[in-house]
Amino acid sequence: MAEDQGYKIVDVVVFELTEEHLAIREAARDFAEQVLLPGVIERDREMRFPHEEVRQMGEMGFLGMLVREEYGGSGMDNLSYVIAMEEIAKVDASAAVIMSVNNSLVCWGIQEYGTEEQKQKYLPRLATGEWIGAFCLSEPEAGSDATSQKTTAEDKGDYYLLNGVKNWITNGGTSRLHIVFAQTHPEKGHKGINAFLVETDWEGVQIGPKEDKMGIRASDTHSIMYENVRVPRENRLGEDGQGFKIAMKVLTGGRIGIAAQALGIAAGAYQRSLEYAKVRRAFGKPIIDHQAVAFKLAEMATDIEAARVLVYRAAHMKDLGRDVTALSSMAKLFASEVAMRHTTEAVQIHGGYGYVREYHVERMMRDAKITQIYEGTSEIQHIVISRAIRKGQLYQGWE
Ligand code: CAA
Repeated sequence: MAEDQGYKIVDVVVFELTEEHLAIREAARDFAEQVLLPGVIERDREMRFPHEEVRQMGEMGFLGMLVREEYGGSGMDNLSYVIAMEEIAKVDASAAVIMSVNNSLVCWGIQEYGTEEQKQKYLPRLATGEWIGAFCLSEPEAGSDATSQKTTAEDKGDYYLLNGVKNWITNGGTSRLHIVFAQTHPEKGHKGINAFLVETDWEGVQIGPKEDKMGIRASDTHSIMYENVRVPRENRLGEDGQGFKIAMKVLTGGRIGIAAQALGIAAGAYQRSLEYAKVRRAFGKPIIDHQAVAFKLAEMATDIEAARVLVYRAAHMKDLGRDVTALSSMAKLFASEVAMRHTTEAVQIHGGYGYVREYHVERMMRDAKITQIYEGTSEIQHIVISRAIRKGQLYQGWE
């Protein structure tokens, strides 16, 4: 059995959380309840970015969890990261996506593929929240079909000339650093794509209007225009032509972060539904004593537990240095479907109260939807998983 082809590993099935993991869970839970919860409804209604809350997340070390301490991060493992992400997302999915993009797409990408100079220059700022990062891959005509990049980066010797438009950029309005993907050698197809570190105050970077979204409304999503932006050669991330592979590798980790966000949204909706079902009475008894509601809660609890095992396992396998391409897609696919299904059921359990903002679950239902779309739609996750099956990279259970 070739271990490095996929996650074809049968020796790591159960793992224990350490005291440190439990301490992180408690710290993230306290932070979410004390700092994020009080304004979460207003921020959603007003589409207001949580500047102060994000600043405090930086202070707590939540924005650079995977960054090594020598570069100003918390130096934690992926398991700690998903544990914290679940707790933040239980309360505020917008704060969770800000955290996820900064941690797993931007910081991890620079730490893994950056030069020593790039790491020293950018990671301490990003890991502490002094700067926020954004990941600029999607374009108006290149979303799922990510190899079809229209943005160009012309090689001019000392610098690259960057031109193009990016769409749906999380942290688009607040970020100070973008990882931008652009085509340098169109004749080479995806092997001609490069990744660049672009500071947003450079001439030619224009931030488009903020998107008015269904959910995660406190996170800011923009289109970005790059017009004749001169990107110094030393700001190319990775080798010439390595950009698409970097995007895919980084997204593999990112999908674990989004899976944890989806898990948190589902768990938050379950928690609120359970609390409500114990106190709300109908036909002379608490609604939890009606089988129609009790069975919904049983389904929720089972699916959330399964999602948690999958998400934590993907994170743990990444910590062990395994190839988690298919496993991260499985975690994201499953957790996001669970989030959508059970936030919808949470609204149903709450009845009319579930349909108004005060009870949180309608926001969770709106927030859940995007987890099936960004960082690869559910359909893209099916492609990644089915390709791994075809290549014989998955443990089948009968071998
Ligand atoms: N790791 C390393 N290399 C990989 C890889 C991976 N996980 N996946 C693909 N590649 C390599 C392939 O090996 C191939 O290289 P070679 O030609 O050298 O063999 C190359 O990349 C092209 O791969 P494919 O032929 O498989 O390409 P494809 O066109 O069929 O697309 C895809 C593959 C999986 C569908 C990919 O395009 C994809 O993941 N699309 C979704 C993009 C996405 O997730 N976008 C989200 C935007 S970011 C975002 O949402 C952030 C935010 O703000 C929240």
